[in-house]
Amino acid sequence: MNQKGSRKEMSYKKWFFKHLVKEKLLSIVLLIFLTIYIATTSVTPFFIGDIFGELAKENRSFSIILRTALLIALAGVIRAAADFVQSYMNEVLAHKVTKNVTEEFYNDMLEKSQEFHDRIKVGDIMARATYDTRQMNIFISPGLKFLFEASFTLIFSVSFMIWISPKLALLLAAALPFYIITIYDYYKKLGPVSKAQVEQNSIMNIRLQESITGIRVIRNFVKEKEEIKEFDYETDRLREINTKRGIISAKYYPIAITTLVIALSFLWGSNLVTNGNLSLDDLITFVFLMMTLTMPTWQAGRVVTQFQIGMAAAKRIYEMKEREEYVPEPSTPTEWSGYQGSIKFDRLSFSYKSGSTRKKALDKINLHISGGSTVAIIGNPGSGKSTLIKLLMRLYDPTEGKISINGIEIKDMCLSNLREHIGVIEQEVFLFSKSIRDNIAYGKAEATLEEIEAVAKLAQAHEFIMNFENGYDTIVGERGVTLSGGQKQRIAIARALLVNPSILILDDASSAIDAETERKIQTAIANVLKNRTTFVITHRLATIKNADLIMVMRNGKLIDSGAHDDLILRNPDYRNLFERFSELPPIQIKEGV
Ligand SMILES: Nc1ncnc2c1ncn2[C@@H]1O[C@H](COP(=O)(O)OP(=O)(O)OP(=O)(O)O)[C@@H](O)[C@H]1O
Ligand SMILES: [Mg+2]
Repeated sequence: MNQKGSRKEMSYKKWFFKHLVKEKLLSIVLLIFLTIYIATTSVTPFFIGDIFGELAKENRSFSIILRTALLIALAGVIRAAADFVQSYMNEVLAHKVTKNVTEEFYNDMLEKSQEFHDRIKVGDIMARATYDTRQMNIFISPGLKFLFEASFTLIFSVSFMIWISPKLALLLAAALPFYIITIYDYYKKLGPVSKAQVEQNSIMNIRLQESITGIRVIRNFVKEKEEIKEFDYETDRLREINTKRGIISAKYYPIAITTLVIALSFLWGSNLVTNGNLSLDDLITFVFLMMTLTMPTWQAGRVVTQFQIGMAAAKRIYEMKEREEYVPEPSTPTEWSGYQGSIKFDRLSFSYKSGSTRKKALDKINLHISGGSTVAIIGNPGSGKSTLIKLLMRLYDPTEGKISINGIEIKDMCLSNLREHIGVIEQEVFLFSKSIRDNIAYGKAEATLEEIEAVAKLAQAHEFIMNFENGYDTIVGERGVTLSGGQKQRIAIARALLVNPSILILDDASSAIDAETERKIQTAIANVLKNRTTFVITHRLATIKNADLIMVMRNGKLIDSGAHDDLILRNPDYRNLFERFSELPPIQIKEGV
């Protein structure tokens, strides 16, 4: 079952529209003020016409002119106030929609499966979460404001024009096809360019993100110049796209049509006035109404541009969001039972998706591990050790077979419930740019400082943390201290210990720690986690020797399992592997101090 299934049918336009109309009250207030704004714009030509009409009279009344002028001023004040409110509301609407869209996108990214994150580049996600949402924002504000202004002005002014002189309005009707053709043509031409623009931005983001992340490799191989050259190529591509857009925009000419219609209205209108078929004030009103169309015609071009880019961006956000890559949750989850974790791998197979093919990483693994054991997993690089752990955490689902913990298939457990019980110290430790205290307490925000210190001591981290000026409040990363590999690992160990997991996994966790520190950590962990199930992926002979169970992996297969003494006698592969591992000082896993 996939809880996201119901959303699949929707198109990105519908999805965007749904977000837009969600803010009902705001939209209604916005439309009211917009109507006031346009109405006051469209009545002004009538006042101007009245003044001209009055001026044309022989016994013109100055008080009428003054009163009408005051009305123009009043309309101007109301118009300015309404414009302020509608512009403000439009900006608020844009921010609300963008915020909702960004939050939805972010939530979805966090829920996506590991397979999704293996394939999708961070830079691409970042581009969609920042640049593309910004483009959507611009389409709403000022784009939508322009769109509504243009349409409302068109409706008001044209209706008034038809009312004043249907004959003169025929001119507009004649010009209409030209408007439609030019704007449609512009819309069509801009589509592909807008799409290319947002995509190119994403490409640049990916490149930039990879270069910065891989800066050490770039330096090491003295590849700065090549990297800059490649980036230059991408910026050139963006420049080309923008130039193309500029040229298309420059060719946007409906304003010329409006000017032409104004000139023709004057000509034909004068004729009608001379023949007594139209009053002078009506002609003036008509021409001024016509002029109110100049701005919207110009704005239509901008709206089209913003619409095209905004929609191309919305499509990209929606497409990434809607990729149905979630680890499905059971509809009625079974709660984790029991304290310790007994684990059963049952004909477990797994293949990573790589392109259209699948690459087998685990092949029919069968094994029962009793709760509380210490299991060492050994095998050559790429033999599937880390993959097995990832499946246990349900980062991926098996292609065949199953994993059960305490007799419950992990697919039937609520994901968070399962992961809460598993503490992992991965090969590559990741810490957040927060304080050391927050990093350790990441899985248990309510932990007291005493608890944090206690696990830090167990992980042999307390001492070096206290050597920092700010102790546990020291910020890690960019804005603070840079930790060594071994220090990071010890913080990761403390972080895993704090949540008191039923299953603890150390994936090569000791590689960056010296043997003496590791011995202390192992002893401490053994004391804390007595009766918990522990997996250790390691090359250290002593750790392997002392494990209750050793899993020997080769090419995704579990070629043998058992205790050291048995394996060494019966399995030549194990002997081989064992001999190849370098002799490191012995360490204890579970036996007391
Ligand atoms: N995200 C991935 N996508 C595709 N293939 C992968 C992925 N991760 C690992 N593999 C492949 O799966 C196989 C097993 O990898 P795994 O990381 O489990 O090996 P390992 O035994 O942990 O190796 P090491 O000792 O080097 O850590 C390898 O052939 C590897 O290339
Ligand atoms: Mg590994």
